[in-house]
Amino acid sequence: MQAAVVTGASSGIGRATAALLVEHGWRVFGTVRTEAQAEELSTTLGPGIIPLRFDLRDGPAIARAAELVAAALGADRLAGLVNNAGLAHFGPLALQPIDDWQAQIDVNLTGTLRVVQAFLPLLGADRRRNGPPGRIVNISSVSGRITLPFTSGYAASKHGLEALSDAMRRELAIYGIRTILIQPGAVRTPIWDKVDRPDDERFADGDFGRLFAGFKTAFAAAGEKALPSGRFATLVHRALTTRNPRPRYALMRGRLAHWTLPRLLPDHLLDRILIRQFGLSRGTR
Ligand SMILES: NC(=O)c1ccc[n+]([C@@H]2O[C@H](COP(=O)([O-])OP(=O)(O)OC[C@H]3O[C@@H](n4cnc5c(N)ncnc54)[C@H](OP(=O)(O)O)[C@@H]3O)[C@@H](O)[C@H]2O)c1
Repeated sequence: MQAAVVTGASSGIGRATAALLVEHGWRVFGTVRTEAQAEELSTTLGPGIIPLRFDLRDGPAIARAAELVAAALGADRLAGLVNNAGLAHFGPLALQPIDDWQAQIDVNLTGTLRVVQAFLPLLGADRRRNGPPGRIVNISSVSGRITLPFTSGYAASKHGLEALSDAMRRELAIYGIRTILIQPGAVRTPIWDKVDRPDDERFADGDFGRLFAGFKTAFAAAGEKALPSGRFATLVHRALTTRNPRPRYALMRGRLAHWTLPRLLPDHLLDRILIRQFGLSRGTR
């Protein structure tokens, strides 16, 4: 039986991925943060899921979880590591508290590296283990390539994850471990409910207050048209099992407008479009 670790299995893409892998007969170690989430995960997904509890900021807890997985695997290798857990705190960069900015880098980027380092021996760095080298799937975002106003910390973390994934593909080739990056557009998950934060009031009176409120309204509307998380679970499964996976898979609605054109346009033209779209022309308040 193949085994995989999926981070952030309490909801959204991580939950859908864990469920799909279990359905396909995988043994899945799904990470959550609370005992209640662990119980809920076991009750819902059954014996194919083994909950692990850690926060991506807690190196020692991640190391303890890796020891548990090592014991459960015996002498076998881990076939997959899905680095999915992540968070988004949006806001005007001029005013956003550094702690909010930093949390996104710490969880989405550094947290991914913490997990990779802890599970690397199980994926193939420990040559005494049996089985083919495992694969790593990193969940990035359209924001890993394109930065919208008010998403600076999130986009920086995902741009960083893109670079980390490039380095992983190249450095971990020494073990035969492949790294595949998934770049979702909008996906219907609870992450959208977390964008509107109670302390966003702090931005209300500044130069960006009205514009940031408009951004959040537009963002919520995009959430309405988002793809279901099951589409990404299927894509992760494909990345883990297809013979020759691509380095990157981008999946979204409105691919031409939200992905292809923004990456083709020269910066000064994309700046002009986004500045106008988000009402940020000089002198506008
Ligand atoms: N939804 C989208 O439109 C979209 C688009 C592009 C990329 N993505 C990416 O997809 C991934 C999954 O997001 P989602 O949309 O499925 O959101 P979600 O439903 O909010 O799930 C996020 C998961 O990450 C976990 N998590 C958050 N902070 C953590 C931490 N410090 N330590 C450990 N786990 C933590 C959450 O656990 P708790 O339940 O304990 O908070 C949850 O299980 C993220 O990397 C996100 O950036 C999402």
